[in-house]
Amino acid sequence: MGNLSGKTAIVTGASRGIGRASALALARAGAQVLVHYGSGEKAAAAVVAEIHQAGGRAEKVAADLRAPDGPHALAKRVRAIVGDRLDILVANAGISKAATIEETTVEDFNDLFAVNVRAPYFLVQQLLPTLCRGSSIVLLSSLAAHATVGTLSAYAASKGAIDTLVKHFASALGDRGIRVNAVAPGVVDTDMSNFARSDAGRDFTLGIQALKRIAQPDDIGAAVAFLASDEARWITGDTLHVDGGSKL
Ligand SMILES: NC(=O)c1ccc[n+]([C@@H]2O[C@H](COP(=O)([O-])OP(=O)(O)OC[C@H]3O[C@@H](n4cnc5c(N)ncnc54)[C@H](OP(=O)(O)O)[C@@H]3O)[C@@H](O)[C@H]2O)c1
Repeated sequence: MGNLSGKTAIVTGASRGIGRASALALARAGAQVLVHYGSGEKAAAAVVAEIHQAGGRAEKVAADLRAPDGPHALAKRVRAIVGDRLDILVANAGISKAATIEETTVEDFNDLFAVNVRAPYFLVQQLLPTLCRGSSIVLLSSLAAHATVGTLSAYAASKGAIDTLVKHFASALGDRGIRVNAVAPGVVDTDMSNFARSDAGRDFTLGIQALKRIAQPDDIGAAVAFLASDEARWITGDTLHVDGGSKL
């Protein structure tokens, strides 16, 4: 029996990377996990199968979070499965795009803010009726919101918006006993940060970190599971830097 036994959780973007690791960490701690995906149905099914094999409870749920009504559709599906009680919401799904100021297009900018900011905002809004005293919301920020790393100004701004939302959500929902936090990873070995798999990318990454290895998705999933748990009961409105001491 883990410390999240009997709890229900949704992790967006759980088909791959940090979301997958977060879903597995929550399931290991005993939560029933809804594994959300966009286009990676097979990958999401594999995450669900891995949780089932370990004796846990999981189900996959699809929604395109770039669509304006994506969060609303997802919330409806989540409510159909968990009913009126959701304990943990991890809004992890995200996209990035490396581009200089000159290269950034209106379409790229809109997509970044649609998936990284608008979707978490309206998912929280739509799932609020199911969240209750003791529920925990975890959003995904980034080192890029706090330091210049690469040509990521529009992406970085979307993650800066997450840090701002965390404070407003935490303040607004505190009297309902709902905690809201973010984790801000540095460079993590996922499809999004695959540049770190090249020699130059690896050298750059190790050069900005105090701890000298490339972060794995599990390193972030552990922090997500901590913030979701009662061990973090007095932490709200905060962004936890989970980056091996990057850009100190
Ligand atoms: N990796 C890093 O170095 C790093 C650092 C700081 C912050 N972060 C943040 O951590 C989060 C996870 O990143 P990651 O590296 O794990 O990314 P990833 O490996 O690229 O995975 C992205 C996930 O988001 C989902 N997703 C993307 N667009 C979607 C859409 N339109 N609708 C529904 N789902 C969508 C994908 O689902 P499908 O594949 O099923 O479509 C996938 O599960 C993001 O918010 C990212 O900004 C990552």
